[in-house]
Amino acid sequence: MTSPGNACTLLARKARQLPRDILLIAATFAVVLITPGADAATHGPASLKSAGNAGQRIAHADAEPQNWLSTGRTYSEAHDSPLTTIDTQNVSRLGLAWSFDLDTHRGQESTPLAVDGVLYTTSAWSKVQAFDAASGTLLWHFDPKVPGATAVKACCDVVNRGAAFWDGKIYIGTLDGRLIALNAKTGKPLWSVNTVDRTKGYTITGAPRVVRGNVLIGNGGAEQGVRGYITAYDASTGRLKWRFYTVPGEPGKMDNAASDKILAQLAERTWDGNWWSSSGGGGGGTVWDSMSYDPELDLLYIGVGNSAYWNRKYRSANRGDNLFVASIVALRPSTGEYVWHYQQTPGDQWDFTSTQNMILADLTIDGRLRKVLLQAPKNGIFYILDRATGEFLSGTPFVKINWMSGFDSQHRPIMNPKSDYGSTGEVWIGTPSQSGSHSWQPMAMNTQTGLAYIPVQDNVSIFLSDPEFKPKPLGVNVGIVTDPVKLPLTPDVLAAIKFQPTSYLLAWNPITKTEAWRAATPSVVNGGVLTTAGGLVFQGTIDGDLIAYDAVNGAKLWSFNCGSAILAAPISFAVNGRQYISLVVGWGGIYSMLGGPPAWGKTGPRTNTSRVLTFTLDGKAALPAPPEDSTPRRTAVPPAQFADVSTITMGQTAYHRTCLVCHGIATISAGGAPDLRHSATLVDGSLWRSIVADGALVNNGMVGFRENFSLREIDAIRAYVIEQARLEAGESPTVH
Ligand code: HEC
Repeated sequence: MTSPGNACTLLARKARQLPRDILLIAATFAVVLITPGADAATHGPASLKSAGNAGQRIAHADAEPQNWLSTGRTYSEAHDSPLTTIDTQNVSRLGLAWSFDLDTHRGQESTPLAVDGVLYTTSAWSKVQAFDAASGTLLWHFDPKVPGATAVKACCDVVNRGAAFWDGKIYIGTLDGRLIALNAKTGKPLWSVNTVDRTKGYTITGAPRVVRGNVLIGNGGAEQGVRGYITAYDASTGRLKWRFYTVPGEPGKMDNAASDKILAQLAERTWDGNWWSSSGGGGGGTVWDSMSYDPELDLLYIGVGNSAYWNRKYRSANRGDNLFVASIVALRPSTGEYVWHYQQTPGDQWDFTSTQNMILADLTIDGRLRKVLLQAPKNGIFYILDRATGEFLSGTPFVKINWMSGFDSQHRPIMNPKSDYGSTGEVWIGTPSQSGSHSWQPMAMNTQTGLAYIPVQDNVSIFLSDPEFKPKPLGVNVGIVTDPVKLPLTPDVLAAIKFQPTSYLLAWNPITKTEAWRAATPSVVNGGVLTTAGGLVFQGTIDGDLIAYDAVNGAKLWSFNCGSAILAAPISFAVNGRQYISLVVGWGGIYSMLGGPPAWGKTGPRTNTSRVLTFTLDGKAALPAPPEDSTPRRTAVPPAQFADVSTITMGQTAYHRTCLVCHGIATISAGGAPDLRHSATLVDGSLWRSIVADGALVNNGMVGFRENFSLREIDAIRAYVIEQARLEAGESPTVH
């Protein structure tokens, strides 16, 4: 978040106990075997040809260039396709082959899979669809029926980033923490396992990966004070194989997990305070998105997220690196054993996740062929690590950054002491912002050009320790000031509020560590990237344009307006020798929830039309007309103010503590949750209470907030929203 949007920077024992703990694990994470028939709807015959092959196919994905078997296509996660039919010469003939309208109006972030002529997509609320990839005929769909109340646990919309395929099965992680195996042919559930403690703020939005017969799944929730981990389940039975916690639990208490030894040896001493308790934040370090795997080295790489709470003052007594937050960790995929780690942002206080996709490549560096891991995480530095040993080879800022000034002899960042807002108690204006210079939108790497294509965001965030911080039961807890009126209006803060965020597609040469080209994209955020051996780079914009660039020089060769914002990454695949490009479109995600005007389109808040689109050369299908405008009704005249200034101020504080994450900074919606200034509920105090206190709309993702606020505060929020509505309508502010 930045500017008004960012002004709020949201704003953010003993090994002998084994038998008992195994029982506990068995009880908590019981595998539920599902009888076929439940929950899935099948239409028409499935056309799977060889889905029954052993799962090892992903390790040899280059032998079947027509398929896209895992979220990054191969275990190297380069989001590159070896297909060449569509190339720089003929891409101008690309046209729509088919489209399919999805059934929600929430954010779409999924990278599809394409296996033997079937396209698998996932969509908001963790739903799964299977299509005949050439014709677009829906073969089956699966709705895990995620309870609406789960939405309040998701920092950034009820999104899902994709499924996994292995040995005739499709795996999906659900927002409420389940891992479900489906029959790839029929969509019928085979097994389902709960992977989280449902009493806590865990969610799953990332795609599972499958390695050597183990399904790997992490989770999110650092803004809700959870403790991060990744778990491996047997792909055929759902049995728990191992779990690796990324941050230590309560000192002296073992988890009987694969991480016990390394946390005790290395991590625990890097923490202080009472991070493990609900008053300490839980630690964070969630593995919410990226993983890669090197079959030769047999190493699994996990990207570890930010700390909980963001503010280290409330997490770790202002001290410590807090391992393994904001790190890349290498594990043995069959046991979860720790092998190496590199921490990118020691003691992270800025939501600098290291969860952005990690690309494995073999590069000649200083005359030596090295097996490397490449990552451009939120903190703005392009890292190259030796992936066998974890050795740091280079770290080069690819955007303007101010939290560090270089690396010391141990390859540790030299931190800017002013960035430690937890200790200083002063405002810190950080760049990159907490949204990062590159977030979950996958970057891609093209073997022919040797370039990495990064969806970059250029933004700032305002961080100020909240002296009155107390965690609330529902919604985000980060420990910084989120109410803009509580910020000192210094020239720096004013400049940060006015800062115009931008985004662009950056072609980066990892060898020369320089920019090859860049293409400007509209507004604050753009979409994930695909590159192909046809010399192309595909990326969508939030204005809805899917664009094909020349991978060498960035020349814009083709574009198509998809009718709704694009955040997700396209893929490419072939059926019967014909090449296709597919993607899921639909506005949503963090910027739709709290982005405010910086995330708006030309005519105001963006609307969502969620669709799956597939393109091919000479495709002639027409994009369906957008559905009827579903913009919330606007009250003709905002109601009269019923409260005094001190009540309005109380409402403003409460609003910015919890509501802004979905309804937008200062009540200005960016198209995610409704713009409350235009809500018909404003005129009716008891209707307002039934929704905001009692959860009348809980099934649609709007819980009741009685646990967070008194009825007085809930009424005060209405007064504040009415005030904002009146100001928008040009009325004078309330003065007494
Ligand atoms: C996790 C996201 C989230 C949070 C946090 C949240 N809301 Fe909502 N809210 C929603 C969504 C989504 C809807 C639309 C529900 C629907 O489609 O029926 C909604 C709807 C509403 C409505 C009904 C609007 C209308 O005209 O239909 C009101 C009023 C409302 N929210 C107030 C609040 C207040 C006040 C807070 C803070 C105390 C809050 N919300 C926090 C997501 C959220």
